[in-house]
Amino acid sequence: MLGYLAPMSREWDAVTYDRVADPQARWGAGVIGRLDPAARRVLDAGCGSGRVTEQLLDRLPEAHVVALDASAQMLDAACRRLARYEGRVSFVNADLREPLPLHEPVDAIVSTATFHWVPDHPALFRRLAAVLVPGGQLIAQYGGAGNIASIARALAVIGDPLPGRWTYPEPGPERRSLLDAGFVDVRVWLQPEPTAFEAGEPFETFLATVVLREHVALLPEEERRDFVRSVAALLPGPSLDYVRLNVVARLR
Ligand SMILES: C[S@@+](CC[C@H](N)C(=O)[O-])C[C@H]1O[C@@H](n2cnc3c(N)ncnc32)[C@H](O)[C@@H]1O
Repeated sequence: MLGYLAPMSREWDAVTYDRVADPQARWGAGVIGRLDPAARRVLDAGCGSGRVTEQLLDRLPEAHVVALDASAQMLDAACRRLARYEGRVSFVNADLREPLPLHEPVDAIVSTATFHWVPDHPALFRRLAAVLVPGGQLIAQYGGAGNIASIARALAVIGDPLPGRWTYPEPGPERRSLLDAGFVDVRVWLQPEPTAFEAGEPFETFLATVVLREHVALLPEEERRDFVRSVAALLPGPSLDYVRLNVVARLR
């Protein structure tokens, strides 16, 4: 059974996400490998159900991690997953579209599979810079130019109720925005990650929970499964043409 959510919610089906987000967890491992091991206070911006946060806590055993997310369900799932790290992790329910309510600045910010959900990256980078210590690291990965173009094509055929919902930037403008926000030593690059799924229900559940989450939330319950199936039927197969955009930068 597909787990669907109330319309217009910023909530996620965190239990299902935690189960199906193997690609995100795999990519996350590569991202946190770029983190300076000397960081002692790290923000995970968009921690989701905590699978990447967990890897982060294991990689930096001396660090305190602030796990931030807009979704209370995701934070509940992260809290359960990360219970054994009590004292080394704190949770913040906040929106990356607004100034971040951190009491102390952090040495590093990590973010995986999140910034494409946040509009206006120049403003986002300024908000992130405001909570970083001078010299602090920003290590992020999110959807970049060309990401899941097959989904955009399928939605255009069906009629997309949320056109332009995601921000999938080119590296050039993203680099410019980072420099303007005060970052230096900026590296930005695209990383194609074509990803295959098990056909049928596993692929449809992934689409409904992650990629088409907001689209299905707009529909009445009885139309959701058919919508996801009609998108899947327009794809070349049970796979997604993911393209990740990587950011490595340091605050001046
Ligand atoms: C695909 S999940 C990624 C979670 C985790 N980082 C991972 O890689 O598995 C995206 C996360 O970003 C969060 N998110 C999206 N927009 C946000 C915003 N404006 N403010 C805070 N969190 C946001 C969602 O609630 C969700 O938990």
